[in-house]
Amino acid sequence: MKNTPSHLPEKARKSICEALRAVLVDGLDLYTQLKVAHWNIKGPQFAALHPLFDQFATDQAANNDEVAERILTLGYLAVGTARHVARKSRLPDYPQDVTKDLDHVALLAERIGAHLEGLRAARDVAKRLDDEDTFDLLTGMVEAFEKICAERLTDEDLVRRCKIDAVVRLADLDGVHAAREVALQQKDDDTVSVLTDIVTEFEKHAWFLHATLGG
Ligand SMILES: [Fe+2]
Repeated sequence: MKNTPSHLPEKARKSICEALRAVLVDGLDLYTQLKVAHWNIKGPQFAALHPLFDQFATDQAANNDEVAERILTLGYLAVGTARHVARKSRLPDYPQDVTKDLDHVALLAERIGAHLEGLRAARDVAKRLDDEDTFDLLTGMVEAFEKICAERLTDEDLVRRCKIDAVVRLADLDGVHAAREVALQQKDDDTVSVLTDIVTEFEKHAWFLHATLGG
């Protein structure tokens, strides 16, 4: 008995499922990378990007599910354990020591771009083999990613907002230094300690000021 409702010939289904399995593997990899970015991100854009990356991850999990289920519909089995993904993913690995917000944006944009390439390649296979349903499924995903890349991850407004944040922080830092001087004179050790922590935190973001205001 045929284990699929599909009208497509066996050879076509096999080729399409191979392409879909590659997409699934990349998609599962991208999901974990989005979560790592969501967890590790720090910086002025944390408030905007931390939930945004989580939303991307949720959307990606839904995509993975749809691709896996399409593979089953075509009569094959989904493959996607972490170990399998680690061996087969076509995405570059994600550095797990990165915290800077805009660095995460650049890293994710690159990986989403790589995943898009895989989606388009699988879509070409579906088109060539007359699988309209897989073609439509993948087109929906391609369009959603293109929207993300165009509107969110390369958002010029985001960069502008980061620069504004940087200016605000730079101005604040002078105030913090001045307040710390006063606390020092008053021998208020507790206030000095709190303000020193803030200064140290600001200095950690010095890279950001150089990168956005200098360049
Ligand atoms: Fe979370």
